[in-house]
Amino acid sequence: MHGKHVLLGITGGIAAYKIASLIRLLKRQGAEVRCMMTPASSDFITPLTVSTLSEHPVAIDFYDAKTGAWTNHVEWALWADVMLFAPVTANSLAKMAHGFSDNFLLATFLSAKCPVYIAPAMDLDMYAHPTTARNLDRLQQDGAHIIPAESGELASGLIGMGRMAEPETLLQVIDDHFSSDKSYSEKKILITAGPTYEAIDPVRFIGNHSSGKMGFALAERALKKGAEVTLITGPTQCKLEHPNLRLIHIHSAEELLATVQQEWSNQDVGIFSAAVADYRPAEIAEQKIKKKEDELTIRLIKNPDVLAWAGAHKTDAQCVVGFALETNNGLENALEKLQRKQLDAIVLNEMGEAGVGFGGDTNRVQLITKSNKITRFELQSKTEIAEQLLNALREIIL
Ligand code: CTP
Repeated sequence: MHGKHVLLGITGGIAAYKIASLIRLLKRQGAEVRCMMTPASSDFITPLTVSTLSEHPVAIDFYDAKTGAWTNHVEWALWADVMLFAPVTANSLAKMAHGFSDNFLLATFLSAKCPVYIAPAMDLDMYAHPTTARNLDRLQQDGAHIIPAESGELASGLIGMGRMAEPETLLQVIDDHFSSDKSYSEKKILITAGPTYEAIDPVRFIGNHSSGKMGFALAERALKKGAEVTLITGPTQCKLEHPNLRLIHIHSAEELLATVQQEWSNQDVGIFSAAVADYRPAEIAEQKIKKKEDELTIRLIKNPDVLAWAGAHKTDAQCVVGFALETNNGLENALEKLQRKQLDAIVLNEMGEAGVGFGGDTNRVQLITKSNKITRFELQSKTEIAEQLLNALREIIL
């Protein structure tokens, strides 16, 4: 986003206070940010906060009575590489949909020559009203991109749809806008990530050290390339928000399998990076196990292989990619898994080298396709590995 001109339009809703963080996030990515506000929005966030954070004077009126200066809305509109209106109240939305221009922000919107994004925010009944839906539809038909409101706690105390998308989500959308690589647009990708936790009793589990970072990096990059992503993850600290992301949390291998089975038929690609526990306790104790004996034996039984299920149930148009974590005979074992699980490709992760594998921020992998093409990716960040893997996989995806 370095040097890109982002013009933010703030209207008078309570979510306006969140725009302070958004300006920070955009500036941190290198964007130049200018802000315009409706007069009502300054009841929710001060122009001083907005101008200080954006490092640029804020436009509210056409005319500054103190200095006698006129702010040219056409010039502001031409300055913008992209316009983001957030939050947009029901009132401003209606005015935008009908071409009103009775304030600086609306006049600039009407003068836009660049792409426009609109993030509505209002109470749930206003958001659900057919008038709002009609206005959003109308703006979309006119070429604006709508960033849908989210569900959650609202300023009224009610819970439901209407909350403005979070600043991190808005940032993602703008960041994606400037990404020219849309090689995965119209593709639906399912990604599994993180560890599974297999319950022993109500408070204990068998797990592993997988952080989920690789799967989340893949999801983040795929979204940037225009994909619709369903990310199914075990317990993790990783976070990701995006309008084209469906994030599903699971704990055990059995839950993972059930979720994959539900989602798989709609997907074009499956990338299975989760570190699924191979075994689970045969019985889960109903009560916490007490330390009565000196020894405790837990009988383990095999978990279903989620990746093998997907390989066995894929159509010719679907593509399945597995991961193999190996400590020895890496290539040989990975090839054997590729064939046994009927995969289109497998990513080999060889443990034992510094900077490779679980937890860390870097990785070194090899991609092996079913036609035996081997591509090595040198030690680098998981985000960069994800980028390169997706670029390489694009060649084998229909
Ligand atoms: N996998 C899976 N379900 C399982 C076990 C593994 O979906 N129950 C997937 C992983 O997400 C990964 C791939 O299978 O994509 C390889 O996992 P790995 O543990 O390396 O291989 P296994 O097939 O479990 O074989 P082994 O543990 O014997 O090496």
